[in-house]
Amino acid sequence: MLYFAALLLVIALLGAPLEAFKVGVGQHDMTGPAAQVNFMGYAVPNQIGRGIHMRLHARAFVVADDSDSRVAFVSLDGGMGSDLLNIKVLARVGELLGDSSIYNYDNLAISGTHSHSGPAGFLQYVLYQFTSLGYVEETMDAFVEGISQAIVKAHNNLEEGSISYTTGNKLMDSNINRSPSSYLLNPEDERALYEDLGDTDKNMLLLKFASAQGTDLGMLNWFAVHGTCMNNTNKLISGDNKGLASYLFEKDMNGQDVLPGSGKFVAAFASTNLGDVSPNTQGPVCHSGPNEGQPCDFDKSTCKDDKGKDKNEACYSLGPGEDMFESTKIIGTNQYKHAKDLYEKATEKLEGKVDFRHSFLDMRNKEVTLADGSKGRTCPAALGYSFAAGTTDGPGMFDFTQGTNSSSPFWNVVSGFISKPTEDEIACQAPKPILLNTGDVEKPYDWDPVTVPISIFQIGDLFILNAPGELTTMAGRRLRRSIESVLKSGGVANPVVTIAGLTNTYTHYITTFEEYQAQRYEAASTLYGPHTLDAYIQEFTRITKDLLEGNESSSDPEPEDLTEKQISFVPPVIADFAPIGSKFGDVKDDAEDSYTVGSVVRVSFHGANPRNDQRIGGSFSRVERKVGSGWEVKYVDGDWCTKFSWEGGVGHAGQSTATLEWDTGEVTGDVEVGTYRICYAGTKKRITGKKEDFEGCSKEFEITQ
Ligand SMILES: *[C@@H]1O[C@H](CO)[C@@H](O)[C@H](O)[C@H]1NC(C)=O
Ligand SMILES: *[C@@H]1O[C@H](CO)[C@@H](O)[C@H](O)[C@H]1NC(C)=O
Ligand SMILES: *[C@@H]1O[C@H](CO)[C@@H](O)[C@H](O)[C@H]1NC(C)=O
Repeated sequence: MLYFAALLLVIALLGAPLEAFKVGVGQHDMTGPAAQVNFMGYAVPNQIGRGIHMRLHARAFVVADDSDSRVAFVSLDGGMGSDLLNIKVLARVGELLGDSSIYNYDNLAISGTHSHSGPAGFLQYVLYQFTSLGYVEETMDAFVEGISQAIVKAHNNLEEGSISYTTGNKLMDSNINRSPSSYLLNPEDERALYEDLGDTDKNMLLLKFASAQGTDLGMLNWFAVHGTCMNNTNKLISGDNKGLASYLFEKDMNGQDVLPGSGKFVAAFASTNLGDVSPNTQGPVCHSGPNEGQPCDFDKSTCKDDKGKDKNEACYSLGPGEDMFESTKIIGTNQYKHAKDLYEKATEKLEGKVDFRHSFLDMRNKEVTLADGSKGRTCPAALGYSFAAGTTDGPGMFDFTQGTNSSSPFWNVVSGFISKPTEDEIACQAPKPILLNTGDVEKPYDWDPVTVPISIFQIGDLFILNAPGELTTMAGRRLRRSIESVLKSGGVANPVVTIAGLTNTYTHYITTFEEYQAQRYEAASTLYGPHTLDAYIQEFTRITKDLLEGNESSSDPEPEDLTEKQISFVPPVIADFAPIGSKFGDVKDDAEDSYTVGSVVRVSFHGANPRNDQRIGGSFSRVERKVGSGWEVKYVDGDWCTKFSWEGGVGHAGQSTATLEWDTGEVTGDVEVGTYRICYAGTKKRITGKKEDFEGCSKEFEITQ
């Protein structure tokens, strides 16, 4: 008997796999310019930043196998990936590591969470620069440095470890489909496959990273929802619902006392097929006009105005909260709690190899073999009319039909280059009525990407499809289903397939052929015509087969670096001035003597332009608690419970005000009673260009129960 048990033990030990992978995680601040730069996402010209609610972070995960085949996946609290970002990040990572052969186009994926409250200007194509007045070098530099540092940290943290995964239960009440009428155009038998989920995906795929000793290292998940809880009136930089979910998870794992971005544990809530998925769960309602309070038109998302005309401006969806902050909190907290639950249940370990395939695709005229065997093709990029109408998360405000007579100097320069579509292009894009024919304009530089990256990462039985846009719910399901079946016929019995959305570049939306016919916003923004999705399925299938068979993947040319050609109309900071008799950092409106827990403390200072020093990895504000004779920093500008707002710039004669807010009711964990102060750290710029740091603090105040 004993002998038998010992034999079993030996067999078990021999059979036990070695720790399958080397894993490393890292994160870094990448907030960028906190003022005077347009936000990326809504394309609303006057949505220009003036402060910080939460800092933006890049979160990196590196996984390598025994043979040192490796992939690096980065989720960033920002709008989307950008090919120029990859070009610059690869150069910077190569420089930092002193070796540029480790990470390359093929094994690096940079995916945006799709927050609509981060600075714009980090994509190199005209189409994405309309409302940011062109390229914004300050954004690009911050993103490149933040992402590169996150990757290098993950690289340096590599150790023997494991990755477990789970999908578990559905996460309800956290997303709705914002184009349900388009979803209904998909075939009934296909929709029936998802009867239990409905018209949005509700499952979260979660990966748990642990060291060989079992130490918690990190968490990465994918759940489909737009980063549009913060709406197009918000002017404070924010990671939106996913940024908050990461913040909450990291606080939970690193300890409430660890300042945001500085803990070891890294939690990323990445984006997936969120194309038609909104966090604004109240659904589209008319906010003015004769039908105020009633649902909008189901097919067109419009409301009647007082003259009886159908207009899109009054139709929008609100989130579940009282205001956008509370909505962000609800949708973010839902994701955090669900992820925490899954994290504790994630026991299924990934095993096997790490591999990848990557291809650039010239999407201007790709032949596509359709399901019935006939041939179709993709078209040069173009946007349809509904693009300008926007969505129920934020109705469109930029009137592209205005011609060259606009208040935007950038638009005045570029609009003259818009080309008229040819007969062939019109036919190819049909039934899309072409508003902006962008695919064959190269002046002043390309309007959208000419070649588009796709890639597949394999980590054991997990396959990540890195997709350069926003797939709608059904487009994503169709892509996943297709690749699952390719993998199964290639001998992978139980593949786990996920889509990493908005990765490595941005090409707007990807709808199904059926959804395309209705030409709502997502379809109007499906750049390469009705067969865009079929083309991606065909090409992802090709690189998946290459991966399975150990073949190289062929590729169209890589994108050009257009940095030298970029135009920017974002004005530079000239100089800062404090009013006569005051110094920078002097308090304008001071704190009260005491507050009870739950109150908001607000202090304002004579400030300077935050663009003078972005304080990456640092903070413009500090909430400090008195400990003995010293002060301990409790909260910074990256914390959810604080807001840093800046008022200045044009019309203020170089003078500005920084207002620091601490909402003691929004603290994660408990607020300690005691003596506090709020301090502001800034950098002023002299007319000579010389910069100097300064600081100021409020008076001491008490926090009582
Ligand atoms: C944005 O949110 C605020 C509340 O935070 C609300 O008053 C406003 O109507 C919202 N606007 C849109 C377009 O959703
Ligand atoms: C162009 O702008 C000017 C000044 O704002 C305005 O008076 C004029 O009517 C505009 N012209 C057109 C064609 O919109
Ligand atoms: C992979 O390469 C082999 C050898 O060249 C070839 O026979 C096979 O068809 C290739 N597979 C694919 C999917 O292209």
